[in-house]
Amino acid sequence: MPSHARTTQVAIIGAGPAGLLLGALLGREGIHHVVVEKHSAAHVLARVRAGILEPATVALMRELGAGERLAREGLPHEGLFLSVAGQRHHIDLQALAGRHVTVYGQTELTRDLMAQREAAGWPTVYEAGDVSLAGLADKPCIRFGEAGRPVELQADWVAGCDGFHGVSRASIPPEKLQTFERSYPFGWLGVLADTPPVAAELVYAQHDRGFALCSMRSPTRSRCYVQIAQGDSIEDWPDNRFWDELASRLDPASAAALRPAPALEKSIAPLRSFVAEPMRWGRLLLAGDAAHIVPPTGAKGLNLAASDARQLAGALIEHYRERSDAGLDSYSERALRGVWRAERFSWWMTRLLHRFPEELAFEQRLQRAELDQLLASRAAQTLLAENYVGLRG
Ligand code: APR
Ligand code: PHB
Repeated sequence: MPSHARTTQVAIIGAGPAGLLLGALLGREGIHHVVVEKHSAAHVLARVRAGILEPATVALMRELGAGERLAREGLPHEGLFLSVAGQRHHIDLQALAGRHVTVYGQTELTRDLMAQREAAGWPTVYEAGDVSLAGLADKPCIRFGEAGRPVELQADWVAGCDGFHGVSRASIPPEKLQTFERSYPFGWLGVLADTPPVAAELVYAQHDRGFALCSMRSPTRSRCYVQIAQGDSIEDWPDNRFWDELASRLDPASAAALRPAPALEKSIAPLRSFVAEPMRWGRLLLAGDAAHIVPPTGAKGLNLAASDARQLAGALIEHYRERSDAGLDSYSERALRGVWRAERFSWWMTRLLHRFPEELAFEQRLQRAELDQLLASRAAQTLLAENYVGLRG
């Protein structure tokens, strides 16, 4: 069967937050682009992911004209709670860092951007089969199946926004990439349930039994997590065991407010820190999880994807509007500065709040001392707050 040939300026691989935000930024400037996603839109929207937006991410959605529902339904959070060894402490993000975060599920942000694409008529191929990339050094060509027909898409540039397991990073010759990785010897078990949040703001809990987190999606829907052992499976965690374990790790006030409800969704996420450098090879530019992973403790993954999309869009717009490649040439270096700061913060917060199985008594005492200092020092809390709401510049 002959291939169906098409051309575009920018081929975007993946319809997660990185790909959709990049597409919206380019579409708004009249730059032709196609989003190629291997799953259906419904499948992408069925994944339960993070839910904390930094002010910069909220501002980006607003600038794109896709922030209306976010402004209406997003929950502004001016602080968070740290529950340490059974005692709850408030961290006032607004007072410490002068900004706040917004609770709005990644799924909802994705839904808003997909709706905007459809209304704008920007081309998106869902359920693309066997996506492969060729000619990345100078003349990119993306091959995939669309409704059973082979398609060849010629593009000036390819944006690899296809997540950690995607085809983009894997298409770069290994000797051209340097990777940095740290895995953690535990996972997070997450439960989504129609039950009111235990507190008005998120509760991050450090406890001898392990880390726990009470987050939310709305005033009636909670998203909660407990640290679990590596190798545990969903079957090991029936609903009642999950709620009992969560309660045992929380301070008394949070535990008393917990109202167990049937899990609407339950999933296990491994924790990993990962960075691939550089974020560009020839005409392929990586953004979001395709280039880097942070453990979810600092709520940075989605915000980093948004920050990459913004920087990459700026560079591509400069290329087409001003015929300058300066932005594209420096994209990787500029993006990586922010990536490494988020990596550091996510690693620090993970280390501070989790129970590491192999840890010696010495490290446990150091963790305790660091928590003591954090709870006693406004300077230490300011550093946490500034990182949590997003570093500027
Ligand atoms: N071809 C096309 N699309 C692909 C391919 C492929 N070979 N492989 C993966 N994809 C798609 C996935 O189905 C997914 O929809 O790429 C998309 C990548 O989206 P995300 O994984 O959401 O990654 P990203 O857009 O970088 O957003 C990062 O997602 O994982 C969370 O915590 C992370 O919040 C962060 C955010
Ligand atoms: C979530 O709501 O899913 C969530 C919130 C904060 C985190 C991680 C996940 O740090």
